[in-house]
Amino acid sequence: MPRGLIYEGVSDEPMSYSGGSAAQSTVLHAFDELLAIRHSKDSRIHLFLDWSFAAAFLHRMRDYMPPHHRAFIEEIQSAPSLKQHILASGNEKLRIAYNQCASALADLRTYHIAIVTKYITTAAANAKASLQIKPPSSLQERGTGGSGILSFLKSVRDTTRAGIIQG
Ligand code: HEM
Repeated sequence: MPRGLIYEGVSDEPMSYSGGSAAQSTVLHAFDELLAIRHSKDSRIHLFLDWSFAAAFLHRMRDYMPPHHRAFIEEIQSAPSLKQHILASGNEKLRIAYNQCASALADLRTYHIAIVTKYITTAAANAKASLQIKPPSSLQERGTGGSGILSFLKSVRDTTRAGIIQG
């Protein structure tokens, strides 16, 4: 719906909104900000894909959070950096603890990629094969790295893993 949708009784002007997404949940954004994981705009994904590049999509999802939740994320973002503190301290225990957190977050994202592969990518491929249904454009292969959604999720996971502080 490129021109949006008229919500009768709300507005006469068409409005455009994203569908629901767990990316609208505050919790992973809060972890990302706390660990200073920046889903950067220079990730290779945007060279190939138009559906979104990771940072912009995730940021847009913040518009769908309750304002207090969004304010909480912004508060963490503007506070002194935990990662800089750990780097500056040279404290090995802190570095290990930080890395366990970043690693657990990357593992969660890897697990999530497996779920999405099973319930969306494989399911869409099966539907296409058996029912001759054309999958939604967001699921079609683009660029060189597989479907748009999986490239996006892998980029977010890889950025998380890249946050690990080398010893
Ligand atoms: C059958 C189950 C699930 C499916 C099919 C699914 C699918 C997806 C898809 C397609 C995206 C890409 C963005 C979008 O289109 O909105 C996404 C993003 C995301 N999903 Fe899921 N998801 C599932 C379960 C979950 C669960 C249980 C969680 C939380 C524990 C979760 C957390 C997230 C997060 C945080 C993102 C944003 C990307 C990131 O921060 O890594 N999802 N999901």
